[in-house]
Formats: sequence, structure tokens, C-alpha cells
Amino acid sequence: MASRTLWSLLMTIAAAGAASASALTANTSTITCHCFPEDVCWPTAAEWAAFNTTVGGRLVATVPIASVCHYDNFTNYDAAACAALRDVWDYPQTHDGSSSSPMAQFFTNGSCNPFTAPSDPCVVGALVAYAVNASSSSRAESIADYRETLKFAATRNLRLVIRNTGHDYFGKSTGPGALALWTHHLKDVDVVDYTSSYYTGKALHLGAGVEIHEATQAASAAGLLVVGGACGTVGIAGGYTQGGGHGPLASSFGLSADNVLEWEVVTAEGAHVVARPGTVYEDLYWALSGGGGGTYAAVVSVTIRAHPDMRFAGANLTIVQGSEVADDVFWGVVQTFIESAPLFANLGVYTSFALQEGIFVVSPIIAANLSAAALHSLFDPTLAALNTSGMYFDFFVDNFASYLDVYDAVEPTNNVTEYNIGGRLIPRSLVETNLTALMATLQYIVADGSGVSGISVNVSSYPLDVANSVNPVWRTSIYSFVIGSALDQYNISANIPIQEKMTNDLVPALEAITPGGGAYVNEGDFRQPDFQQVFYGDNYNTLLAIKDKYDPKDLLYGLTAVGSERWASQSDGRLCRV
Ligand SMILES: Cc1cc2nc3c(=O)[nH]c(=O)nc-3n(C[C@H](O)[C@H](O)[C@H](O)COP(=O)(O)OP(=O)(O)OC[C@H]3O[C@@H](n4cnc5c(N)ncnc54)[C@H](O)[C@@H]3O)c2cc1C
Ligand SMILES: *[C@@H]1O[C@H](CO)[C@@H](O)[C@H](O)[C@H]1NC(C)=O
Ligand SMILES: *[C@@H]1O[C@H](CO)[C@@H](O)[C@H](O)[C@H]1NC(C)=O
Ligand SMILES: *[C@@H]1O[C@H](CO)[C@@H](O)[C@H](O)[C@H]1NC(C)=O
Ligand SMILES: *[C@@H]1O[C@H](CO)[C@@H](O)[C@H](O)[C@H]1NC(C)=O
Ligand SMILES: *[C@@H]1O[C@H](CO)[C@@H](O)[C@H](O)[C@H]1NC(C)=O
Ligand SMILES: *[C@@H]1O[C@H](CO)[C@@H](O)[C@H](O)[C@H]1NC(C)=O
Ligand SMILES: *[C@@H]1O[C@H](CO)[C@@H](O)[C@H](O)[C@H]1NC(C)=O
Ligand SMILES: *[C@@H]1O[C@H](CO)[C@@H](O)[C@H](O)[C@H]1NC(C)=O
Ligand SMILES: *[C@@H]1O[C@H](CO)[C@@H](O)[C@H](O)[C@H]1NC(C)=O
Ligand SMILES: *[C@@H]1O[C@H](CO)[C@@H](O)[C@H](O)[C@H]1NC(C)=O
Ligand SMILES: *[C@@H]1O[C@H](CO)[C@@H](O)[C@H](O)[C@H]1NC(C)=O
Ligand SMILES: *[C@@H]1O[C@H](CO)[C@@H](O)[C@H](O)[C@H]1NC(C)=O
Repeated sequence: MASRTLWSLLMTIAAAGAASASALTANTSTITCHCFPEDVCWPTAAEWAAFNTTVGGRLVATVPIASVCHYDNFTNYDAAACAALRDVWDYPQTHDGSSSSPMAQFFTNGSCNPFTAPSDPCVVGALVAYAVNASSSSRAESIADYRETLKFAATRNLRLVIRNTGHDYFGKSTGPGALALWTHHLKDVDVVDYTSSYYTGKALHLGAGVEIHEATQAASAAGLLVVGGACGTVGIAGGYTQGGGHGPLASSFGLSADNVLEWEVVTAEGAHVVARPGTVYEDLYWALSGGGGGTYAAVVSVTIRAHPDMRFAGANLTIVQGSEVADDVFWGVVQTFIESAPLFANLGVYTSFALQEGIFVVSPIIAANLSAAALHSLFDPTLAALNTSGMYFDFFVDNFASYLDVYDAVEPTNNVTEYNIGGRLIPRSLVETNLTALMATLQYIVADGSGVSGISVNVSSYPLDVANSVNPVWRTSIYSFVIGSALDQYNISANIPIQEKMTNDLVPALEAITPGGGAYVNEGDFRQPDFQQVFYGDNYNTLLAIKDKYDPKDLLYGLTAVGSERWASQSDGRLCRV
């Protein structure tokens, strides 16, 4: 079986990786920090210009998108443009086409904040300094852009980041003084017939910059569907699939990583290779499929399994407690819903809920190959409890002819998060055996003024029968929970005590009832203690060995990424070896 041979291969690599890691120490011990702007080692203007010619003139110097809100330093001030920018700041689309703007506000360190006074400074600061706009006009040229960018960063000792859409909650696609390999414009999409020992059938071959909505549209036009996230502007080939990737179809077809057929990459050392099971790059395939974004190699394209499009049922439910209804009535209904999760999951139904004091919204609810009547009946216990509760509620359910139809009808618009977040995967066994403890913990978090969102999952199997490095905790989970606490967009440092409460109190409350569990590498607390075990589970040491094999100079870094414990950010943002 594919997975068993892979496992013995990985063990061999783990041993070899450990050896090469110690050989590396001698070379890099002299490099303590990456070069930082204004250091003597920082490239001169002439050197940047020379580098620019090696990437076909596609080097972009960062101009912060909010420079229209400030008098300095870019002389771009424009009150009307600033007002318009503030109105759309919360939308992913405002950031995902930029070469430098991260969606997670905290990681901008207030460098150029649209919400502060025009006289406040606007600097490049914590944003990437430069980006290479890898172009899709020619494949050979794109690969050359990757190689030249990786090479320039390595030889000049610059911090490198790979930036796709900028969605990352941990700031992994930004960095002070960094050179970004910017993949957004690699938009090629092809529907292909794929043949291998582990899959024969339709697939989508997607450039690194393709977003979920673009892949979904292309699949739909061919009568197909692909597993993608709820939020259409997330990129498929980047952090989403490399970190696992959940979404409305995951409980029917597996996580996005479970559907990867092959990865085309340029390694940190400049090798252009295709990683797939049954080849010498099987280890790289395994690591890229779930082991976290921006860590092992720079992805040029990914090929993922497609499924025939089908009928769907879609629904949503809104519940408002109201002042006249007792708390235990509200919580009783919430409990009835939470308890139903195994029923939904067994039938491949996706539910996404958001809970805060007095408000409970389940939206969207998406059910592949199920009728509206069958989906409705899964809600009978919750609706029966609601009927006698005296609370306001609104339930919608209908039939849809295709995935795009149901998605467009019931998927709410996604904003970039307006919260500080933490996360935890919730085992199916907890819902089945100790619902009381789970509900008490939810009440504790909500009483703090925070919210909890959860998506239900059933990803117990590997649908391709090929192993990958998704945290094994996913396989026994029924929910992925995300806690959201207030985010101060005006005053970045005001978020620190809120984040400390997340790390020291709210996430530990969930950890206490899920001992030995884990959290989703893409949707957790960036200050998570013991992140190696919590985000990667028992795969960590093997992932680290594979990283060291393909990135021996440790060029690829991200906060909480595999190997990141070897680096630390200083108070000025400089990244140094520890
Ligand atoms: C509004 C919103 C909604 C979300 N919804 C979902 C959801 O429904 N399901 C879900 O699973 N997750 C969801 N996420 C989390 C999402 O999966 C992560 O934020 C993910 O990291 C985004 O990947 P990206 O490539 O689009 O973003 P980026 O921030 O550009 O990159 C993320 C990471 O991937 C690396 N990376 C990007 N491109 C490449 C490449 N070509 N090669 C190697 N590394 C690369 C980057 O270096 C970085 O480490 C959501 C996030 C947000 C903000
Ligand atoms: C380390 O340095 C040696 C000699 O200078 C060189 O041969 C080797 O390739 C280097 N290794 C790495 C990982 O850079
Ligand atoms: C790179 O070169 C192009 C083409 O000459 C130019 O338009 C661009 O401004 C240059 N980039 C930088 C950062 O100077
Ligand atoms: C930005 O402007 C300030 C003065 O307002 C100046 O001190 C600083 O050096 C400038 N920074 C950059 C990066 O241009
Ligand atoms: C999304 O952002 C917009 C614009 O800031 C705001 O009006 C809207 O309420 C936000 N939606 C949610 C669900 O937070
Ligand atoms: C990046 O390249 C694309 C073409 O591939 C171009 O349309 C876009 O304007 C470029 N963006 C920047 C900021 O240079
Ligand atoms: C849809 O469900 C029916 C049973 O209700 C089953 O026979 C059929 O194979 C399913 N189709 C798909 C594509 O899963
Ligand atoms: C709830 O009440 C409505 C209207 O009174 C009724 O149609 C529906 O069947 C009830 N639902 C359940 C699940 O009891
Ligand atoms: C539920 O979906 C329906 C159908 O698209 C939509 O009209 C309604 O606004 C949605 N309700 C919520 C709370 O999202
Ligand atoms: C969902 O659960 C069913 C029944 O427990 C299981 O057979 C199926 O494989 C699961 N789906 C996935 C994608 O793991
Ligand atoms: C920002 O928040 C910090 C920490 O809470 C506080 O000390 C500081 O006074 C705040 N600054 C402003 C301008 O409100
Ligand atoms: C439920 O969880 C609580 C808190 O972790 C624990 O004290 C209790 O013993 C558990 N009960 C059962 C039946 O497992
Ligand atoms: C964050 O901003 C402060 C104030 O401008 C600055 O002193 C500090 O060096 C910055 N830190 C990082 C990590 O960018």
C-alpha cells in the first residue's frame, strides 16, 4: 500500500536529515541575523536595480496601500481615497491583490495604518520591503523569477517570504525587511485528465496564484467541483492546501491536502521538481500536503483531484436570544445543535457556526448529494427545541442544482478577521461523551465577551489512500473551533493583553477538555505554547528533517512554521538565529 512504503521512506529521510542538519550548523553559525534595511550589508540601490534586471523588471518597491491616508512618506495623501479605503479595509479583496498588505493587522505593527491621523507616520516598517511579481506570461520566466528571487535572498542574506493572497493569520506572508516572492499573478487554470497509480480521472492544474473562487468557477464550467475553503479569496496552492484546508466539501471528499495529486515546486536551492507519491520526491509531497505553508519549497503549481458536480442542499439558521428569554433556554438550543454534529458529519454535511452572547448563527450549511428534506430532518431536534423556546429564529433550507448555486446562495461574505484569534480541534469523542464539559467551556469563553466559531468536519479517511502530513488529530475531530477576541485596529499595542488572555486563559480552557489534542495550523493562536506538537502532532520531527533536506540553508521561515524555533524576531523586527 502506498502509505506503508512511504512511511519507511520517511524514516530513512528522518535519519539522513538529522545528519545534514548538523553539517549545516558550521556554515550558518556566522550568520546571526538577516540583513535589515540600512545595515551595511543591505543591497545598494544599484544592486537592487541589477537584481531587478534578472527578474525582467518585475521588482516592486513597497508603497503601503494606506499611504493615501498620510502626509508622509510617500506624498500620496488623498482624503477621498483614504475614506474609500477605510470603507473597504475589512474586505479581503482590498489586500489580496497588493504586493505587501497583510490581512492580519497586528503584523503591520501600525506601519501605515489607515485609521490613524494623517499626520501620523506611514513607513514600510513591518511590511515586506520589496516583492518580485512572478509573472504568468511564460512558464520558463516564472520559474526563473522563483530561482532568481530565492538565490538573491540566500546570497545577500535577506529575509525571504512567499506571499500569495496575504490571508495568513500568523503574518507568515509578511515580514520586516523581507523580499517577497509574490505569486498572485500566476493564474493559469487547466482541467486535465490525470493518470497515476493512486488516481485516474479529472483534475485541476492550478498556478500558485489561483484563488478558491477562480478554481471553483473553472471547475463548475467543466461540470466539476474541487474542495476549497469557505472564503473564495483564499489561495489554493499556498497556505490553505499546504496547511490542510477545510471547506464546505471536506466532509464529503476530505481536506484540500487530501486531494493533492502533485506539487510543482522550486526548492530553496533552485531545483525545479514535481513532488508526487511513488517518486524520489514523495517525502516533499508528504510534507507539502498538510505540513504548513511557506516552509519546504516554493510552489509553482498544484494539481488537485476534481469530482463530478452534483446536487446540493443548502441552509442557514439564525437564533437571537432576546432579553425576555432565560440563558439556559438559549444554551439548551445551542447544545442541541452542537450535539447533532456527528449526525451531520456522517452524511458529509458542512456546518459553520458563530456564537456570541445571545446570538447563534449557523451559516452556511452545505450538504453534497442530499435533498433539502433530508437536510431539514437533521435539524428537527434543534428546530423542536426552538419552537418551544420563545426565541426569534430564522431557518432557511432549499435544493440547489450545483455547488456554485448553493455556495452563492448561502455563503455569507467573508471579511478579514476583526478579531485576535486562537483555535482548537474538538474530538468527536468529547461531543459524544462529555458534552457538559464542552458546553461549560463555551459558556466560559462567551462570558468573557469573546466569540467562538466552529466548522464541523468528518475527515477520518484519506480519500486517495496516500498518506500526507496533515496533523493526525484532524482525523478524529468533529469541529475546528476558533475563538475571536476584540481587535483594536487603531492601537496595535492594545492587542497584546488581549492576546495574552487568549494564550493563558481562553485557549487553555479548550485544551483542558481536549488533552493530547491539537489545533489547525492555519487558524490558531500565533503565541501557542508547544506549537510543534499542537499544530503538527507526531509528524513534527519528520517534517523538520524533510525541511532540512530541501531547505538546508533555512531560507524559508514563518512564525510557528516547522523549524521556526531556530529564529526569533527582535523588537525592531529583525529576524535572527537563536
Ligand atoms: C477571511 C479568511 C477566511 C478563511 N477561510 C478559511 C477556510 O474556509 N478554510 C481554511 O482551511 N482556511 C481558511 N482561512 C485560513 C487560510 O487557509 C490561511 O490564512 C492560509 O494561510 C491562506 O493561504 P494563502 O496562500 O491564501 O495566503 P498567504 O497569506 O499569502 O500565504 C500563507 C502561507 O502560505 C505560504 N505560501 C503562499 N504561497 C506559497 C507558495 N506558492 N509556495 C509555498 N508557500 C506559499 C506563505 O509563505 C505563508 O506562509 C481563512 C483565512 C481568512 C483570513
Ligand atoms: C557548507 O560549506 C561547505 C564548504 O564551504 C560547502 O561545501 C557546503 O555546500 C555548505 N553547505 C551548505 C548547506 O551551505
Ligand atoms: C524594476 O524595473 C522596472 C522596469 O524597468 C521598473 O518599472 C521598476 O520600477 C523597477 N523596480 C524597482 C524597485 O526599481
Ligand atoms: C518617513 O518620514 C519620517 C519623517 O516623517 C522620517 O523620519 C523617516 O526616515 C521616513 N522613513 C522612510 C522609510 O522613508
Ligand atoms: C464586514 O465589513 C464591512 C465593512 O467594514 C462591515 O460593514 C460589515 O459589517 C462586516 N461584516 C461582518 C460580518 O463583520
Ligand atoms: C504584476 O504583473 C502583472 C502581470 O503579470 C501585472 O498585471 C501587474 O500590474 C503587476 N503588478 C505590479 C504591482 O507590478
Ligand atoms: C448520492 O447518493 C446516492 C444515495 O442517496 C448514491 O447512490 C450516489 O452514489 C451518490 N452520488 C454521489 C456522486 O456521491
Ligand atoms: C415548529 O413549528 C412550526 C410551526 O408551528 C411547525 O411547522 C414545525 O413542524 C415545527 N418544527 C418542529 C421540528 O417541531
Ligand atoms: C440564508 O440564505 C438565504 C438564501 O440565500 C438568504 O436570503 C438569507 O439572507 C440567508 N440568511 C442568513 C442569516 O444568512
Ligand atoms: C465521513 O464519515 C463516514 C462515516 O463515518 C466515513 O465513512 C467517511 O469516510 C467520512 N468522510 C471522510 C471524508 O472522511
Ligand atoms: C495603546 O494601548 C496601550 C496598551 O493598552 C496604551 O498603553 C496606550 O496608551 C494606547 N495608546 C493610545 C494612543 O491610545
Ligand atoms: C468531563 O470533563 C470534565 C472536565 O474536563 C471532567 O472533570 C469530567 O470528569 C468529565 N466527565 C466525564 C464523564 O468524562
Ligand atoms: C513596531 O513599531 C514600533 C513603533 O513604531 C517600533 O519601535 C518597533 O521597532 C516596531 N517593531 C517591529 C517588530 O516592527
